[in-house]
Amino acid sequence: MSSLHRTPAPAVDVTEYFDIDNGLVDRGIFGDTALYQQELRRVFAPSWLFLAHTSQFRKPGDFFTTYMGEDPVIVTMGKDRRIRAFLNACRHRGMRVCRADAGAAKAFTCSYHGWAYDTSGKLINVPNREGYPESFDESRWGLREVARLDTYKGLIFATWNPDAPALTEALGGMTWYMDAMLDRDPEGTEVVGGVHKWVLEGNWKLAAEQFSSDWYHVNISHASALMVMSPTGKGPKAEIVQTPGRQYTDPNGHGAGFPTHPKSRFDDRVVHQYYDYGQLRERLGDGRVEGPMTTGHANVFPNFSYLPVNGSIRVWHPKGPDKMEVWAWTVVDKSMPDEVKNAQRLYNLRTFGPTGIFEQDDGENWSECQATAHGFMAGGMTLNYQMGIGMSAEDGVHPGTTGHLYSDGAARGFYSRWRDLMNTPAWHEKAADER
Ligand code: FES
Ligand SMILES: [Fe+2]
Repeated sequence: MSSLHRTPAPAVDVTEYFDIDNGLVDRGIFGDTALYQQELRRVFAPSWLFLAHTSQFRKPGDFFTTYMGEDPVIVTMGKDRRIRAFLNACRHRGMRVCRADAGAAKAFTCSYHGWAYDTSGKLINVPNREGYPESFDESRWGLREVARLDTYKGLIFATWNPDAPALTEALGGMTWYMDAMLDRDPEGTEVVGGVHKWVLEGNWKLAAEQFSSDWYHVNISHASALMVMSPTGKGPKAEIVQTPGRQYTDPNGHGAGFPTHPKSRFDDRVVHQYYDYGQLRERLGDGRVEGPMTTGHANVFPNFSYLPVNGSIRVWHPKGPDKMEVWAWTVVDKSMPDEVKNAQRLYNLRTFGPTGIFEQDDGENWSECQATAHGFMAGGMTLNYQMGIGMSAEDGVHPGTTGHLYSDGAARGFYSRWRDLMNTPAWHEKAADER
């Protein structure tokens, strides 16, 4: 008996939802329940997904609970100091084994009937053990562990897919852009201030595609926030609202956009003054300091996004086709003095925390887009993703394919990756002899 996968519903061929070469997307992909279920099976289950930051695990027994798609998982450091991740579901009746958000534990004891698991996922205690037949073998009933777990410069990712490429291969050329946030400090990064979590009406892809690709909305959606942040109070600085910049499109569906105007930054002043930009230029190169380190945006396919300028890292957890849960951390450089770390944290909260002056604008857009899609006519419309078509190229400064900052290029890349995964049977759909 296969305990893992039942025969799934027949897969939908999603080709007809896209004409990516011509920048057309059918908005049915945002609200359809069958597509959503297929997405959990074929996009989330086989992909590398962000779990947590390594600094959340300082000693054996430290744990953090999160989600991979809609699957609840426990991430924990074992006695051997290895970080592992397991399904947070008891093998007895499926109860959530660990019900805390984070903490430290010697073992995880299920609060239903008391089965207990150690930090390496092994089943170590079964009440009324003598009531089970002789064939009962504890070693077969441990917590289900992810197929692979790996870290990239402090970020922990995992996948259920035993056939997945190595994490660095899956991140591919995106690491050059990620390093603009993760590799400023030889000591690395850490997270400060816990995790903020909030729920938004809206499909998770609306947020992920925006963080891949959308600087276009900034001048309009965030006009009031930019006004508040302008030194004169009169309006956003011209170099912020009509800024030159580039947008990177990764073949694996990742994307990043960033201004390249030297004055296009609105960092927190304390953080800005802390940095030795000469040293950063030596470490990261001019192209990165003047580009992806500034006020850009980025998404690692499928649902991990970040903002290099304020250290916001976040996951868009899918909660059905119409809803997402945002989990957001603040990343800082380890070598920063405490007051600089704190300034970064507060700056992140002011701008992109749950009540941040920018974050609220974005959330409202996504919720409203989702709401109009509920209509029969509005829900069947074709959407326009044509900006920047035919304008991408190698620019000699930023590796890989880039186009102008104002472009839908990375969104087209995001959906072309999504479409390919949706149309490809995942490892769990293949017979054992095909794998
Ligand atoms: S469901 Fe966990 S012990 Fe029964
Ligand atoms: Fe925004």
